[in-house]
Amino acid sequence: MTTLHFHPDPAPAIEAALHAAGRPRLFVVADDNTARLCMPRLADTSPAVADAVLLTVRPGDEAKTLGAAESLWQRLTDAGATRRSMILNLGGGMVTDLGGFVAATFKRGVPYMNVPTTLLGAVDAAVGGKTAVNFAGLKNQVGVFAQPAATFVSTCFLSTLPERELLSGYGEMLKHALLNGPGSLSAILDCHITSIDPSTLLPLLRESVATKEKIVAADSTEQGLRKALNLGHTAGHAIEELALAAGHPVPHGYAVAWGLVVALVLSHTERGMSTQWLYAVADGVRSHYGPMPVECSDYPALLALMAHDKKNSTPGSINFTLLDAPGCPAIDCTATPEAITTAFDIARDLV
Ligand code: GLY
Repeated sequence: MTTLHFHPDPAPAIEAALHAAGRPRLFVVADDNTARLCMPRLADTSPAVADAVLLTVRPGDEAKTLGAAESLWQRLTDAGATRRSMILNLGGGMVTDLGGFVAATFKRGVPYMNVPTTLLGAVDAAVGGKTAVNFAGLKNQVGVFAQPAATFVSTCFLSTLPERELLSGYGEMLKHALLNGPGSLSAILDCHITSIDPSTLLPLLRESVATKEKIVAADSTEQGLRKALNLGHTAGHAIEELALAAGHPVPHGYAVAWGLVVALVLSHTERGMSTQWLYAVADGVRSHYGPMPVECSDYPALLALMAHDKKNSTPGSINFTLLDAPGCPAIDCTATPEAITTAFDIARDLV
């Protein structure tokens, strides 16, 4: 499994990990922004990073393409990278997904490490070994499961992130807290993510990542339990895709947060989960993210998007991960279109 490191500053731990790995030749994959803003900070205190070959890609999810992967494979070839090299991905989810995919496929696999620079990356994309590029207009369509050798979660890059980025990561932290249990959930609902100090954030990150890592350790290729990590994502992805198609994109974690409220309503109506946590989470989601950008007239389009989700087990049925209670996920649940639209009605009333 991946070694996870949690430090305010990741550079000493990266240096130590590279030393323990026999000082492999290092290639850093970064986007233009993280190369400019984050790389110098690491290079200042890590000689190995300062000496690394820097490979940059364009920023933004639209740059997560096979063409970008091919360009990285070419530059690795030109620079003489081998299976004994190490790739270090420095960036948000786009960089860790793309860099992980390139590492997993180049010469049938070069070891790689992740240094996430966004909150969303730290709690989700950089952990768990899902790597991919977008293809044919579909997100993450081509990829492999390949665990990073190490992931370095730190708070040093988070203090300059815009509020929207922090809130996007917080949506996934809320999901992990719901999967972990009432204690985690209370701690996450009580924290003020946009003004939190790094020493308070780091233990919350540790707990959030540990929740994901425990699930991934039990089911790394999503045959069963890992589907619990899809909590909030059935409705959330549909909200995200609808907003994108309407020309008003919403950050992934915002859509997940609204999707969590829909999933908790269904958890109550379909599985009898108590309303106590539904109301508490809906209050938190309303105060952080505002109303869900969905009208009743959007329901047919949302149902169509959910019916086409690649995670559905049978054509036409809509799969959800629900909760019997915080900490007790129920995977492979289905709900009728009527139950789903009622859940959207209630969720929209609550947020
Ligand atoms: N983002 C959910 C997972 O890694 O399975």
